Amino acid sequence: MDRILIRGGKPLRGTITIGGAKNAALPLMAASLLTDEALTLSNLPHLADISTMAKLLQELGVEVSMDGDAGGGGHIGRVFRLTANDTSNTTAPYDLVRKMRASVLVLGPMLARTGHARVSLPGGCAIGTRPVDLHLKALEQLGATIKLNEGYIDARAENGLKGAHVVFPMVTVGGTENLLMAATLASGETVLSNAAREPEVADLAKCLVAMGAIIDGIGSDTMTIQGVESLHGATHAVVPDRIETGTYAIAAAITGGDLTLVGARADLSESVVRVLTSAGVEISKTGNGLRVARTNGPLKGADMMTEPYPGFPTDMQAQIMALMAVAKGASMITETIFENRFMHVPELCRMGADINVHGASAIVRGVDGLSGAEVMATDLRASVSLVLAGLTAKGETLINRVYHLDRGYERLEDKLSACGADIKRVPE
Ligand code: EPZ
Repeated sequence: MDRILIRGGKPLRGTITIGGAKNAALPLMAASLLTDEALTLSNLPHLADISTMAKLLQELGVEVSMDGDAGGGGHIGRVFRLTANDTSNTTAPYDLVRKMRASVLVLGPMLARTGHARVSLPGGCAIGTRPVDLHLKALEQLGATIKLNEGYIDARAENGLKGAHVVFPMVTVGGTENLLMAATLASGETVLSNAAREPEVADLAKCLVAMGAIIDGIGSDTMTIQGVESLHGATHAVVPDRIETGTYAIAAAITGGDLTLVGARADLSESVVRVLTSAGVEISKTGNGLRVARTNGPLKGADMMTEPYPGFPTDMQAQIMALMAVAKGASMITETIFENRFMHVPELCRMGADINVHGASAIVRGVDGLSGAEVMATDLRASVSLVLAGLTAKGETLINRVYHLDRGYERLEDKLSACGADIKRVPE
Protein backbone atom coordinates (compact mmCIF):
# COMPACT_ATOMS: atom_id res chain seq x y z
CA MET A 1 0.00 0.00 0.00
CA ASP A 2 1.33 3.45 -0.90
CA ARG A 3 2.30 6.00 1.71
CA ILE A 4 2.80 9.74 1.52
CA LEU A 5 6.11 11.28 2.45
CA ILE A 6 6.27 15.00 3.27
CA ARG A 7 9.27 17.15 4.11
CA GLY A 8 7.61 20.11 5.80
CA GLY A 9 8.38 23.78 6.07
CA LYS A 10 7.81 25.04 2.52
CA PRO A 11 5.34 27.93 2.12
CA LEU A 12 2.89 27.03 -0.63
CA ARG A 13 2.50 29.47 -3.50
CA GLY A 14 0.51 29.05 -6.69
CA THR A 15 -2.84 27.97 -8.03
CA ILE A 16 -4.98 24.95 -7.21
CA THR A 17 -8.12 24.03 -9.11
CA ILE A 18 -11.03 22.94 -6.94
CA GLY A 19 -12.99 19.94 -8.23
CA GLY A 20 -16.64 18.97 -8.02
CA ALA A 21 -17.86 17.98 -4.56
CA LYS A 22 -17.70 14.28 -3.74
CA ASN A 23 -20.64 14.59 -1.37
CA ALA A 24 -22.77 16.22 -4.06
CA ALA A 25 -21.66 13.84 -6.81
CA LEU A 26 -22.62 10.67 -4.92
CA PRO A 27 -26.34 11.49 -4.40
CA LEU A 28 -26.51 13.02 -7.90
CA MET A 29 -25.30 9.74 -9.37
CA ALA A 30 -27.91 7.84 -7.31
CA ALA A 31 -30.60 10.16 -8.72
CA SER A 32 -30.04 8.52 -12.13
CA LEU A 33 -32.08 5.58 -10.78
CA LEU A 34 -35.20 7.77 -10.87
CA THR A 35 -35.57 7.79 -14.66
CA ASP A 36 -35.02 5.62 -17.73
CA GLU A 37 -33.57 8.62 -19.57
CA ALA A 38 -29.92 9.65 -19.42
CA LEU A 39 -28.68 11.84 -16.59
CA THR A 40 -25.48 13.57 -17.64
CA LEU A 41 -23.29 14.85 -14.82
CA SER A 42 -20.27 17.03 -15.45
CA ASN A 43 -17.50 18.35 -13.17
CA LEU A 44 -17.25 14.98 -11.44
CA PRO A 45 -14.12 14.52 -9.38
CA HIS A 46 -11.81 11.54 -10.04
CA LEU A 47 -12.10 9.73 -6.72
CA ALA A 48 -12.30 6.19 -5.42
CA ASP A 49 -15.79 6.81 -3.97
CA ILE A 50 -17.09 7.93 -7.38
CA SER A 51 -15.83 4.68 -8.93
CA THR A 52 -17.47 2.69 -6.12
CA MET A 53 -20.80 4.42 -6.74
CA ALA A 54 -20.46 3.83 -10.51
CA LYS A 55 -19.83 0.13 -9.83
CA LEU A 56 -22.85 -0.10 -7.55
CA LEU A 57 -25.09 1.61 -10.11
CA GLN A 58 -23.84 -0.73 -12.84
CA GLU A 59 -24.72 -3.65 -10.58
CA LEU A 60 -28.23 -2.15 -10.35
CA GLY A 61 -28.56 -2.07 -14.14
CA VAL A 62 -27.47 1.50 -14.82
CA GLU A 63 -25.47 2.00 -18.00
CA VAL A 64 -22.55 4.25 -17.13
CA SER A 65 -20.64 5.83 -19.96
CA MET A 66 -17.86 8.30 -19.59
CA ASP A 67 -17.71 11.26 -21.91
CA GLY A 68 -14.92 13.60 -22.67
CA ASP A 69 -15.34 17.31 -22.99
CA ALA A 70 -19.00 18.25 -22.51
CA GLY A 71 -18.39 21.78 -23.64
CA GLY A 72 -17.33 22.91 -20.21
CA GLY A 73 -13.63 22.19 -20.62
CA GLY A 74 -13.89 18.84 -18.84
CA HIS A 75 -11.69 15.97 -19.89
CA ILE A 76 -12.15 12.23 -20.11
CA GLY A 77 -13.86 10.78 -17.06
CA ARG A 78 -15.25 14.04 -15.70
CA VAL A 79 -18.57 13.62 -17.44
CA PHE A 80 -20.75 10.57 -16.79
CA ARG A 81 -23.89 9.66 -18.66
CA LEU A 82 -26.02 7.41 -16.46
CA THR A 83 -29.01 5.56 -17.90
CA ALA A 84 -31.14 3.34 -15.68
CA ASN A 85 -33.01 1.30 -18.28
CA ASP A 86 -32.94 -2.10 -16.70
CA THR A 87 -34.24 -1.99 -13.12
CA SER A 88 -34.60 -5.74 -12.60
CA ASN A 89 -31.85 -6.02 -9.97
CA THR A 90 -32.80 -4.07 -6.86
CA THR A 91 -30.16 -5.41 -4.46
CA ALA A 92 -27.22 -3.29 -3.32
CA PRO A 93 -24.83 -5.94 -2.03
CA TYR A 94 -22.82 -5.88 1.22
CA ASP A 95 -19.50 -5.96 -0.65
CA LEU A 96 -20.06 -2.51 -2.17
CA VAL A 97 -22.06 -0.92 0.66
CA ARG A 98 -19.43 -1.82 3.25
CA LYS A 99 -16.82 0.02 1.15
CA MET A 100 -18.84 3.21 1.12
CA ARG A 101 -21.74 4.16 3.39
CA ALA A 102 -23.11 6.62 0.81
CA SER A 103 -24.29 3.50 -1.10
CA VAL A 104 -27.42 3.74 1.05
CA LEU A 105 -28.41 6.70 -1.16
CA VAL A 106 -29.70 4.24 -3.78
CA LEU A 107 -32.46 3.17 -1.37
CA GLY A 108 -34.88 6.09 -1.81
CA PRO A 109 -34.72 6.43 -5.61
CA MET A 110 -34.79 2.69 -6.28
CA LEU A 111 -37.78 2.15 -3.97
CA ALA A 112 -39.68 5.09 -5.48
CA ARG A 113 -39.09 3.97 -9.07
CA THR A 114 -39.51 0.18 -8.79
CA GLY A 115 -41.46 -0.38 -5.57
CA HIS A 116 -38.64 -2.47 -4.11
CA ALA A 117 -35.11 -1.99 -2.80
CA ARG A 118 -32.84 -4.34 -0.93
CA VAL A 119 -29.78 -2.55 0.41
CA SER A 120 -27.16 -3.95 2.74
CA LEU A 121 -27.21 -2.21 6.11
CA PRO A 122 -24.08 -0.10 6.34
CA GLY A 123 -22.11 -0.99 9.45
CA GLY A 124 -20.65 1.50 11.92
CA CYS A 125 -17.57 3.35 10.79
CA ALA A 126 -14.49 4.99 12.23
CA ILE A 127 -16.21 8.29 13.02
CA GLY A 128 -19.23 6.85 14.81
CA THR A 129 -22.09 4.35 14.74
CA ARG A 130 -23.89 6.25 11.98
CA PRO A 131 -27.23 4.43 11.85
CA VAL A 132 -29.74 4.97 9.01
CA ASP A 133 -32.82 4.70 11.22
CA LEU A 134 -34.02 8.18 10.26
CA HIS A 135 -33.93 7.31 6.53
CA LEU A 136 -36.01 4.20 7.22
CA LYS A 137 -38.56 5.84 9.53
CA ALA A 138 -39.13 8.62 7.04
CA LEU A 139 -39.58 6.18 4.13
CA GLU A 140 -42.11 4.30 6.27
CA GLN A 141 -43.99 7.57 6.67
CA LEU A 142 -44.21 7.64 2.87
CA GLY A 143 -45.89 4.23 3.03
CA ALA A 144 -42.93 1.87 2.60
CA THR A 145 -42.88 -1.46 4.43
CA ILE A 146 -39.38 -2.04 5.72
CA LYS A 147 -37.93 -5.24 7.15
CA LEU A 148 -34.39 -5.85 8.31
CA ASN A 149 -33.31 -9.28 7.18
CA GLU A 150 -29.89 -10.98 7.27
CA GLY A 151 -28.07 -7.66 7.33
CA TYR A 152 -30.19 -6.15 4.57
CA ILE A 153 -32.83 -3.42 4.47
CA ASP A 154 -35.76 -4.80 2.50
CA ALA A 155 -38.06 -1.94 1.52
CA ARG A 156 -41.28 -2.37 -0.42
CA ALA A 157 -43.93 -0.05 -1.79
CA GLU A 158 -45.72 -2.13 -4.41
CA ASN A 159 -48.43 0.48 -4.91
CA GLY A 160 -46.00 3.36 -4.89
CA LEU A 161 -45.01 5.83 -2.18
CA LYS A 162 -47.45 8.42 -0.87
CA GLY A 163 -46.60 11.97 0.11
CA ALA A 164 -46.47 12.77 3.85
CA HIS A 165 -45.16 15.36 6.30
CA VAL A 166 -41.76 14.16 7.54
CA VAL A 167 -40.20 15.98 10.47
CA PHE A 168 -36.60 14.85 10.93
CA PRO A 169 -35.82 14.70 14.67
CA MET A 170 -32.23 15.68 13.87
CA VAL A 171 -30.57 17.03 10.77
CA THR A 172 -29.37 14.26 8.48
CA VAL A 173 -27.75 15.00 5.14
CA GLY A 174 -28.12 11.51 3.67
CA GLY A 175 -31.60 11.10 5.14
CA THR A 176 -32.76 14.34 3.54
CA GLU A 177 -31.25 13.30 0.19
CA ASN A 178 -32.85 9.84 0.24
CA LEU A 179 -36.27 11.30 1.07
CA LEU A 180 -35.98 14.12 -1.43
CA MET A 181 -35.31 11.63 -4.22
CA ALA A 182 -38.07 9.25 -3.07
CA ALA A 183 -40.64 12.05 -2.73
CA THR A 184 -40.19 13.20 -6.33
CA LEU A 185 -42.04 10.08 -7.53
CA ALA A 186 -44.44 9.68 -4.56
CA SER A 187 -48.09 10.53 -5.14
CA GLY A 188 -49.19 13.86 -3.73
CA GLU A 189 -47.28 16.31 -1.58
CA THR A 190 -44.34 15.61 0.74
CA VAL A 191 -43.05 18.17 3.21
CA LEU A 192 -39.58 17.65 4.68
CA SER A 193 -39.13 19.67 7.88
CA ASN A 194 -35.81 20.13 9.68
CA ALA A 195 -34.21 19.14 6.37
CA ALA A 196 -30.44 19.45 5.88
CA ARG A 197 -29.47 22.73 4.21
CA GLU A 198 -26.02 21.63 3.02
CA PRO A 199 -25.13 23.00 -0.45
CA GLU A 200 -24.83 19.41 -1.66
CA VAL A 201 -28.52 18.83 -0.78
CA ALA A 202 -29.48 21.98 -2.67
CA ASP A 203 -27.37 20.84 -5.64
CA LEU A 204 -29.26 17.54 -5.70
CA ALA A 205 -32.61 19.36 -5.47
CA LYS A 206 -31.66 21.61 -8.41
CA CYS A 207 -30.73 18.60 -10.52
CA LEU A 208 -34.02 16.89 -9.61
CA VAL A 209 -35.89 20.01 -10.74
CA ALA A 210 -33.98 19.85 -14.04
CA MET A 211 -35.22 16.24 -14.29
CA GLY A 212 -38.83 17.40 -13.93
CA ALA A 213 -39.35 17.29 -10.15
CA ILE A 214 -41.39 19.98 -8.42
CA ILE A 215 -39.59 21.19 -5.29
CA ASP A 216 -40.16 24.32 -3.26
CA GLY A 217 -37.87 25.68 -0.52
CA ILE A 218 -34.52 24.55 -1.95
CA GLY A 219 -31.70 25.64 0.37
CA SER A 220 -34.04 26.04 3.36
CA ASP A 221 -34.89 23.63 6.18
CA THR A 222 -38.37 22.99 4.81
CA MET A 223 -38.79 21.56 1.35
CA THR A 224 -42.13 20.77 -0.26
CA ILE A 225 -42.20 18.25 -3.06
CA GLN A 226 -45.17 17.64 -5.39
CA GLY A 227 -44.82 14.11 -6.68
CA VAL A 228 -44.83 13.52 -10.45
CA GLU A 229 -45.51 10.38 -12.53
CA SER A 230 -42.03 10.20 -13.97
CA LEU A 231 -38.81 12.14 -14.31
CA HIS A 232 -36.76 12.70 -17.45
CA GLY A 233 -33.10 13.06 -18.37
CA ALA A 234 -31.10 16.19 -17.63
CA THR A 235 -27.60 17.65 -17.65
CA HIS A 236 -26.11 19.01 -14.45
CA ALA A 237 -22.70 20.29 -13.32
CA VAL A 238 -21.62 19.24 -9.81
CA VAL A 239 -21.17 22.11 -7.32
CA PRO A 240 -17.53 22.87 -6.32
CA ASP A 241 -16.16 21.05 -3.28
CA ARG A 242 -16.30 23.36 -0.25
CA ILE A 243 -14.36 20.87 1.88
CA GLU A 244 -11.54 20.58 -0.67
CA THR A 245 -11.58 24.39 -0.79
CA GLY A 246 -11.32 24.70 3.01
CA THR A 247 -8.57 22.09 3.15
CA TYR A 248 -6.35 23.93 0.64
CA ALA A 249 -7.14 27.25 2.32
CA ILE A 250 -5.67 25.74 5.49
CA ALA A 251 -2.69 24.42 3.52
CA ALA A 252 -1.95 28.04 2.53
CA ALA A 253 -2.50 29.29 6.09
CA ILE A 254 -0.51 26.61 7.89
CA THR A 255 2.56 27.05 5.66
CA GLY A 256 2.48 30.86 5.64
CA GLY A 257 1.78 30.67 1.91
CA ASP A 258 -0.39 32.29 -0.72
CA LEU A 259 -2.72 30.17 -2.85
CA THR A 260 -5.32 30.98 -5.47
CA LEU A 261 -8.12 28.42 -5.41
CA VAL A 262 -9.74 28.43 -8.83
CA GLY A 263 -13.43 27.53 -8.81
CA ALA A 264 -13.74 27.98 -5.03
CA ARG A 265 -16.90 29.72 -3.82
CA ALA A 266 -16.88 31.76 -0.60
CA ASP A 267 -20.69 31.66 -0.38
CA LEU A 268 -20.52 27.89 0.23
CA SER A 269 -17.98 28.24 3.04
CA GLU A 270 -18.93 31.34 5.03
CA SER A 271 -18.45 29.73 8.46
CA VAL A 272 -14.98 28.48 7.51
CA VAL A 273 -14.03 31.85 6.00
CA ARG A 274 -15.15 33.54 9.26
CA VAL A 275 -13.03 31.27 11.47
CA LEU A 276 -9.97 31.53 9.23
CA THR A 277 -10.28 35.30 9.03
CA SER A 278 -10.52 35.58 12.81
CA ALA A 279 -7.37 33.44 13.05
CA GLY A 280 -5.51 35.98 10.91
CA VAL A 281 -5.75 34.37 7.47
CA GLU A 282 -6.33 36.76 4.56
CA ILE A 283 -9.07 35.64 2.18
CA SER A 284 -10.23 37.59 -0.84
CA LYS A 285 -12.37 36.89 -3.88
CA THR A 286 -10.73 36.72 -7.29
CA GLY A 287 -12.44 36.71 -10.69
CA ASN A 288 -12.86 32.94 -10.66
CA GLY A 289 -12.21 31.81 -7.09
CA LEU A 290 -10.53 32.75 -3.84
CA ARG A 291 -7.09 33.87 -2.80
CA VAL A 292 -5.93 32.65 0.60
CA ALA A 293 -2.74 33.90 2.22
CA ARG A 294 -1.06 34.21 5.55
CA THR A 295 1.67 36.77 5.34
CA ASN A 296 1.01 39.05 8.32
CA GLY A 297 2.44 37.53 11.47
CA PRO A 298 1.32 34.55 13.47
CA LEU A 299 -2.00 32.73 13.51
CA LYS A 300 -4.35 33.35 16.43
CA GLY A 301 -6.35 30.65 18.20
CA ALA A 302 -10.10 30.60 17.56
CA ASP A 303 -13.00 28.58 19.01
CA MET A 304 -15.50 26.69 16.92
CA MET A 305 -18.25 24.13 17.14
CA THR A 306 -19.30 21.82 14.33
CA GLU A 307 -22.95 22.14 13.34
CA PRO A 308 -25.20 21.36 10.40
CA TYR A 309 -24.90 23.87 7.54
CA PRO A 310 -24.60 26.85 7.64
CA GLY A 311 -22.60 26.09 10.82
CA PHE A 312 -18.96 25.03 10.83
CA PRO A 313 -18.71 21.69 8.95
CA THR A 314 -17.67 18.53 10.77
CA ASP A 315 -15.76 17.63 7.59
CA MET A 316 -13.39 20.58 8.30
CA GLN A 317 -12.91 19.89 12.02
CA ALA A 318 -9.73 17.80 11.76
CA GLN A 319 -8.10 20.25 9.33
CA ILE A 320 -8.82 23.32 11.47
CA MET A 321 -7.43 21.47 14.47
CA ALA A 322 -4.11 20.98 12.65
CA LEU A 323 -4.06 24.75 12.02
CA MET A 324 -4.98 25.67 15.61
CA ALA A 325 -2.22 23.32 16.82
CA VAL A 326 0.33 25.90 15.58
CA ALA A 327 -1.66 29.09 16.35
CA LYS A 328 -0.86 31.47 19.23
CA GLY A 329 -3.05 30.80 22.26
CA ALA A 330 -5.72 28.25 22.99
CA SER A 331 -8.69 27.13 20.91
CA MET A 332 -11.68 25.06 21.86
CA ILE A 333 -13.05 22.80 19.14
CA THR A 334 -16.35 21.06 19.83
CA GLU A 335 -17.69 18.24 17.67
CA THR A 336 -21.48 17.92 17.78
CA ILE A 337 -22.22 15.81 14.69
CA PHE A 338 -20.27 12.59 15.20
CA GLU A 339 -19.42 10.95 18.51
CA ASN A 340 -15.97 9.67 17.60
CA ARG A 341 -14.35 12.18 15.30
CA PHE A 342 -11.15 12.97 17.20
CA MET A 343 -8.98 10.10 15.98
CA HIS A 344 -6.50 12.57 14.55
CA VAL A 345 -5.79 13.95 18.03
CA PRO A 346 -3.33 11.26 19.22
CA GLU A 347 -1.53 11.40 15.86
CA LEU A 348 -1.27 15.21 15.93
CA CYS A 349 0.05 14.91 19.51
CA ARG A 350 2.72 12.48 18.27
CA MET A 351 3.82 15.31 15.98
CA GLY A 352 4.17 17.63 18.98
CA ALA A 353 0.70 19.19 19.24
CA ASP A 354 -0.74 19.97 22.68
CA ILE A 355 -4.37 18.82 22.55
CA ASN A 356 -6.61 17.51 25.32
CA VAL A 357 -10.00 16.00 24.65
CA HIS A 358 -12.80 16.34 27.21
CA GLY A 359 -15.93 14.64 25.95
CA ALA A 360 -17.01 16.34 22.73
CA SER A 361 -14.50 19.19 23.06
CA ALA A 362 -10.81 19.43 22.37
CA ILE A 363 -8.64 22.10 23.95
CA VAL A 364 -5.82 22.94 21.59
CA ARG A 365 -2.91 24.91 23.02
CA GLY A 366 -0.87 26.26 20.15
CA VAL A 367 2.80 25.22 20.02
CA ASP A 368 5.68 26.94 18.19
CA GLY A 369 6.06 24.14 15.69
CA LEU A 370 5.32 20.50 14.93
CA SER A 371 7.83 17.79 14.13
CA GLY A 372 7.55 15.10 11.48
CA ALA A 373 6.61 11.54 12.46
CA GLU A 374 5.19 8.34 11.01
CA VAL A 375 1.42 8.60 11.39
CA MET A 376 -1.81 7.07 10.20
CA ALA A 377 -5.48 7.84 10.37
CA THR A 378 -8.69 5.93 10.06
CA ASP A 379 -10.78 8.29 7.96
CA LEU A 380 -10.54 10.74 5.13
CA ARG A 381 -10.55 14.11 6.93
CA ALA A 382 -8.35 12.86 9.79
CA SER A 383 -5.80 11.70 7.18
CA VAL A 384 -5.75 15.03 5.40
CA SER A 385 -5.28 16.86 8.72
CA LEU A 386 -2.06 14.89 9.11
CA VAL A 387 -0.98 15.97 5.62
CA LEU A 388 -1.58 19.60 6.65
CA ALA A 389 0.39 19.08 9.87
CA GLY A 390 3.16 17.45 7.83
CA LEU A 391 3.34 20.46 5.49
CA THR A 392 4.35 22.70 8.40
CA ALA A 393 6.27 20.17 10.51
CA LYS A 394 10.03 20.11 10.80
CA GLY A 395 11.52 17.02 9.18
CA GLU A 396 9.78 14.08 7.54
CA THR A 397 6.20 12.96 7.99
CA LEU A 398 5.18 9.57 6.62
CA ILE A 399 1.44 9.01 6.29
CA ASN A 400 0.10 5.48 6.10
CA ARG A 401 -3.26 4.31 4.71
CA VAL A 402 -3.25 6.67 1.76
CA TYR A 403 -6.39 5.01 0.39
CA HIS A 404 -8.43 7.19 2.76
CA LEU A 405 -7.09 10.29 0.97
CA ASP A 406 -7.87 8.83 -2.43
CA ARG A 407 -11.54 8.55 -1.42
CA GLY A 408 -11.93 12.32 -1.20
CA TYR A 409 -8.95 14.27 -2.55
CA GLU A 410 -8.09 14.10 -6.22
CA ARG A 411 -4.35 14.09 -6.97
CA LEU A 412 -3.64 15.65 -3.59
CA GLU A 413 0.13 15.28 -3.80
CA ASP A 414 0.27 16.64 -7.38
CA LYS A 415 -1.81 19.70 -6.47
CA LEU A 416 0.34 20.44 -3.42
CA SER A 417 3.71 19.76 -5.03
CA ALA A 418 2.82 22.04 -7.96
CA CYS A 419 2.66 24.82 -5.34
CA GLY A 420 6.04 24.04 -3.84
CA ALA A 421 5.30 21.34 -1.26
CA ASP A 422 7.84 18.57 -0.89
CA ILE A 423 5.38 15.70 -0.96
CA LYS A 424 5.38 12.38 -2.78
CA ARG A 425 3.71 8.99 -2.82
CA VAL A 426 6.08 6.17 -1.94
CA PRO A 427 5.53 2.43 -2.15
CA GLU A 428 5.67 0.56 1.16
C1 EPZ B 1 -22.81 13.22 5.16
O1 EPZ B 1 -22.87 11.97 5.82
C2 EPZ B 1 -21.46 13.30 4.49
N1 EPZ B 1 -21.32 12.20 3.54
C3 EPZ B 1 -20.37 13.24 5.54
O2 EPZ B 1 -19.12 13.40 4.86
C4 EPZ B 1 -20.56 14.40 6.52
O3 EPZ B 1 -19.61 14.30 7.56
C5 EPZ B 1 -21.97 14.33 7.11
O4 EPZ B 1 -22.96 14.31 6.05
C6 EPZ B 1 -22.30 15.51 8.03
O5 EPZ B 1 -22.15 16.72 7.34
C7 EPZ B 1 -21.86 12.30 2.34
O6 EPZ B 1 -22.47 13.32 2.00
C8 EPZ B 1 -21.66 11.19 1.39
P1 EPZ B 1 -25.75 12.60 8.47
P2 EPZ B 1 -24.25 11.39 6.36
O7 EPZ B 1 -26.85 11.66 8.11
O8 EPZ B 1 -25.32 11.76 5.42
C9 EPZ B 1 -26.76 10.66 12.76
C10 EPZ B 1 -16.75 13.07 4.56
O9 EPZ B 1 -15.68 13.08 5.19
N2 EPZ B 1 -27.80 9.89 12.06
O10 EPZ B 1 -25.98 14.05 8.30
O11 EPZ B 1 -24.04 9.95 6.65
C11 EPZ B 1 -25.36 10.25 12.33
O12 EPZ B 1 -24.90 9.10 13.03
C12 EPZ B 1 -18.01 12.64 5.23
O13 EPZ B 1 -16.84 13.39 3.37
C13 EPZ B 1 -28.63 9.05 12.78
O14 EPZ B 1 -28.52 8.94 14.01
O15 EPZ B 1 -24.41 12.21 7.72
C14 EPZ B 1 -24.58 11.50 12.62
O16 EPZ B 1 -24.23 11.50 13.99
C15 EPZ B 1 -17.95 11.63 6.27
N3 EPZ B 1 -29.58 8.34 12.09
C16 EPZ B 1 -25.57 12.62 12.34
O17 EPZ B 1 -26.85 12.01 12.37
C17 EPZ B 1 -29.73 8.45 10.75
O18 EPZ B 1 -30.60 7.76 10.19
C18 EPZ B 1 -25.41 13.31 10.99
O19 EPZ B 1 -25.33 12.33 9.98
C19 EPZ B 1 -28.89 9.30 10.03
C20 EPZ B 1 -27.93 10.03 10.69
